[in-house]
Amino acid sequence: MFSLVLALLCFHGVVVTCLNNEGYALLSFKNSIYEDPEGSLSNWNSSHDNPCSWNGIACKEQRVVSISIPNNKLRGFLPSALGSLFDLRHLNLRNNKLFGAFPVELLEVEGLQSLVLYGNSLSESLPNQIGKLKYLQTLDLSENFFNGSLPSSIVQCKRLRTLDLSQNNFTGSLPNGFGTGLVSLENLDLSFNKFNGSIPWDFGNLSSLQGTVDLSHNLFTGLIPGSLGDLPEKVYIDLTYNNLSGPIPQKGALMNRGPTAFFGNPGLCGPPLKNPCSLDTTGATSPSSHPLLQDNNSTGNLADKERGLRQGERTK
Ligand SMILES: *[C@@H]1O[C@H](CO)[C@@H](O)[C@H](O)[C@H]1NC(C)=O
Ligand SMILES: *[C@@H]1O[C@H](CO)[C@@H](O)[C@H](O)[C@H]1NC(C)=O
Ligand SMILES: *[C@@H]1O[C@H](CO)[C@@H](O)[C@H](O)[C@H]1NC(C)=O
Ligand SMILES: *[C@@H]1O[C@H](CO)[C@@H](O)[C@H](O)[C@H]1NC(C)=O
Ligand SMILES: *[C@@H]1O[C@H](CO)[C@@H](O)[C@H](O)[C@H]1NC(C)=O
Ligand SMILES: *[C@@H]1O[C@H](CO)[C@@H](O)[C@H](O)[C@H]1NC(C)=O
Ligand SMILES: *[C@@H]1O[C@H](CO)[C@@H](O)[C@H](O)[C@H]1NC(C)=O
Ligand SMILES: *[C@@H]1O[C@H](CO)[C@@H](O)[C@H](O)[C@H]1NC(C)=O
Repeated sequence: MFSLVLALLCFHGVVVTCLNNEGYALLSFKNSIYEDPEGSLSNWNSSHDNPCSWNGIACKEQRVVSISIPNNKLRGFLPSALGSLFDLRHLNLRNNKLFGAFPVELLEVEGLQSLVLYGNSLSESLPNQIGKLKYLQTLDLSENFFNGSLPSSIVQCKRLRTLDLSQNNFTGSLPNGFGTGLVSLENLDLSFNKFNGSIPWDFGNLSSLQGTVDLSHNLFTGLIPGSLGDLPEKVYIDLTYNNLSGPIPQKGALMNRGPTAFFGNPGLCGPPLKNPCSLDTTGATSPSSHPLLQDNNSTGNLADKERGLRQGERTK
């Protein structure tokens, strides 16, 4: 109401300075925050003619290019008005208490380069047209309550370098073209979700990946595609706790890893695991039906032995 009156006053030229539209868009963000215990938004008020001096706001040529208010216990939701900040490049609201859905209007901010929302309580599905964000380089949504599948349009984000969706409730399979589409991807963490289906055959085309590629604690099924071995040699692929099966391709980035990258997939077989692939199958389905046999080496180290036993129990 106050804003409206002020806007009317401004319109009639009664007040000399007047907050611009971007300022009002940010004030609707402030209005969507129910709790701001640290007063992070206390200098966000309409007595300025633009928001460029406000806490957490950065401008370029008087246009808002960045909102950065991490770790401030802000409780509230993301309003659609954020979608009218057309020059926004960076939105960082990690580690707050934001809830509700990802506003589809944010996809109108086509120049968005980083979207860092990890450690909130955001929920529901990502909007299907997320691929409209052609300049997106960082999408970090980890530790929220997002569900539904990863929209297939994500493969249009050709500049995406960091994709962290870990610790959410995502389901469904990874979209077609995941490997061939995300040509710039360097960091990938999909752990602790409910992704299912098989690992895309073209995963190995993600040739810019580095560090740990974490697919652990999901529901991926089927064979490990041989193309995973084509990933850069230094990449460490964590496939633990899925439902993968069949032999582990003895190739490139998958070799010399030791068994730890593969635990928790009762159907996997062959080196570096101790349960050999049984000869009477194509190797695609079951590990040896006698997984305990290779664990009779009393001089072997205890940890290996226990793991072998656990694995044996699961495959019985
Ligand atoms: C608005 O901010 C200015 C300083 O930036 C402060 O002097 C003024 O009291 C504030 N007004 C309100 C209504 O908070
Ligand atoms: C995931 O969804 C299930 C219900 O389908 C719910 O019980 C669980 O709390 C959710 N977990 C997260 C992290 O959202
Ligand atoms: C996602 O969670 C919401 C509740 O936050 C629920 O209404 C909706 O059905 C869920 N969608 C899927 C695809 O699981
Ligand atoms: C993946 O899970 C969804 C439910 O979340 C199910 O509808 C779909 O059939 C599953 N797909 C595969 C390939 O298992
Ligand atoms: C994907 O990788 C395969 C095998 O390395 C290669 O033959 C193919 O050309 C690649 N495709 C694209 C689109 O890069
Ligand atoms: C694991 O995959 C097998 C088929 O390979 C399937 O029968 C089984 O239900 C799956 N288990 C889970 C927990 O998804
Ligand atoms: C012990 O392991 C060897 C192979 O290393 C195997 O041939 C043999 O059958 C095993 N013995 C028992 C009692 O499991
Ligand atoms: C038994 O384990 C030791 C140490 O792990 C290893 O050096 C040795 O080759 C193993 N022997 C057999 C028969 O597997």
